[in-house]
Amino acid sequence: MKKRIVVLTGAGVSAESGFATFRDTGGLWEQYDVQEVASHDGWLRNPGLVLDFYNARRAQLKDAKPNAAHLAIAGLEKDYDVDVITQNVDNLHERAGSTRVLHLHGELTKVRPEWGLYDKTFQEDEVIDIGYSEVKLGDLAPNGKQLRPHIVFFGESVPAIEKAIDMVSRADILLIVGTSLQVYPAAGLYRYAPPGAPIYIIDPADVPVYDKRITHIRAVATKGMEEFIATLQA
Ligand code: APR
Repeated sequence: MKKRIVVLTGAGVSAESGFATFRDTGGLWEQYDVQEVASHDGWLRNPGLVLDFYNARRAQLKDAKPNAAHLAIAGLEKDYDVDVITQNVDNLHERAGSTRVLHLHGELTKVRPEWGLYDKTFQEDEVIDIGYSEVKLGDLAPNGKQLRPHIVFFGESVPAIEKAIDMVSRADILLIVGTSLQVYPAAGLYRYAPPGAPIYIIDPADVPVYDKRITHIRAVATKGMEEFIATLQA
């Protein structure tokens, strides 16, 4: 029976693929007003601006490549039962070969009909994969409603969180890579790791949470993954 590794990732795992993180110096939330481009109210106020923001990020994704950290995480599947839970909306884990990826905050390559003020939790069959193409105002879903990014905006619920909690609660090892652990409920997931499960955090910056099970590998994702794998093999 293979040991279960759950890998929780954030923007830092895609930094070495050329993607700006959100909260580092020069990050996305220094360049854009997060309330305007990534919140539910921002969507209601100016949907065209939100569509343009995600169109630009989707276009960048087309030419991006998974980096050695994505590949190393996918490579864990050789010897372990691996679930990746990512806060990222890029598809780099999948393109690196990870076969089980849960996107807590949605996916850049997908859209769904908007439900206006009370954006109900979507039905899976409403979600449309548009790859790297653009969505504009006036692009409508089959049900006649405006198409919106299949992304969890600030102020919206995180439908996949229960599934993520269940995964973490069954982990033998929890690995956290490249997240500032500032955004809940994702940031609280580590608390559900079983008492005996070691928690490794790969991040060049300080870790903002305390738990005696945590080992902090202070490195960028590509180097940190080498160190993590060496630890597994020790
Ligand atoms: N390798 C590993 N970690 C890195 C690297 C790197 N090369 N570069 C930066 N980091 C770390 C930073 O130190 C920081 O801890 O990645 C983390 C990035 O944190 P954020 O920018 O806050 O990104 P994230 O934690 O993924 O944000 C969570 O907030 O804006 C929302 O929905 C958005 O999913 C996102 C959520």
